[in-house]
Amino acid sequence: MKGREPIAALTAYDYPMTRMLDECGVPLLLVGDSLGMVVLGYPDTTHVTMAEMEHHVRAAARARPNGLLAADLPYRSYDTPDEAVANSRRLIAAGAEAVKAEGGREIIEQVRAIHRAGIPFVGHLGMLPQHVLEEGGYHKKGRSDAEHESLLADAVALAEAGAFAIVLELVVPDVAAELTAMLNIPTIGIGSGPGCDGQILVTHDLFGTFPWFTPKFVKKQLNAAEQMRASVADWKASLGKT
Ligand code: KIV
Repeated sequence: MKGREPIAALTAYDYPMTRMLDECGVPLLLVGDSLGMVVLGYPDTTHVTMAEMEHHVRAAARARPNGLLAADLPYRSYDTPDEAVANSRRLIAAGAEAVKAEGGREIIEQVRAIHRAGIPFVGHLGMLPQHVLEEGGYHKKGRSDAEHESLLADAVALAEAGAFAIVLELVVPDVAAELTAMLNIPTIGIGSGPGCDGQILVTHDLFGTFPWFTPKFVKKQLNAAEQMRASVADWKASLGKT
């Protein structure tokens, strides 16, 4: 799709949402470890386990989407190439068609091993949510020359290692556009400006079903939490009436 049409990608963590987004023609569905926050109530993604990812991948895969179903390798599940391959195989056995992991050159042996095992791989550069504790927050990436150079080198390394797409999270828009122009594989941006080949959002942010926190860059399409609250209030008020 690169160069032909913008690639729409959304997260999906269960059967109904995967089925509905697939019916809407979303070509890339991600069982993201963001489910740790918006579904499981963890403070960040570092608490998500392989067992939890498998549970959600199985549910999403039961929708048998036409779109590509990718899944995140969770925190510390790809510390070595052997672990990366074994855990990628578990996600594939659960129904994922591709896996995603965070990082560039520091995980390149893992990416090569996953690719050699015949498992389609999506990279993830920029702000890496699984590193939020070391980094002390969610910071924009690519502002300094060093970060800029590092992003370019990481993106080239991931593409050479076999990644078929790269998510760019909170990357300075000019740098995201530069990476997009430089790479033969698609970039999927989140909070990285309009110059990427595609865009991904956490579906709960798009719909407003996690009303307690919405990232600044998200333009909500729906305020579903308000509608849900109003429906419950109406229903409660109707109880006992004929
Ligand atoms: O976990 C996730 O949902 C993600 C996307 C937001 C890119 O990694």
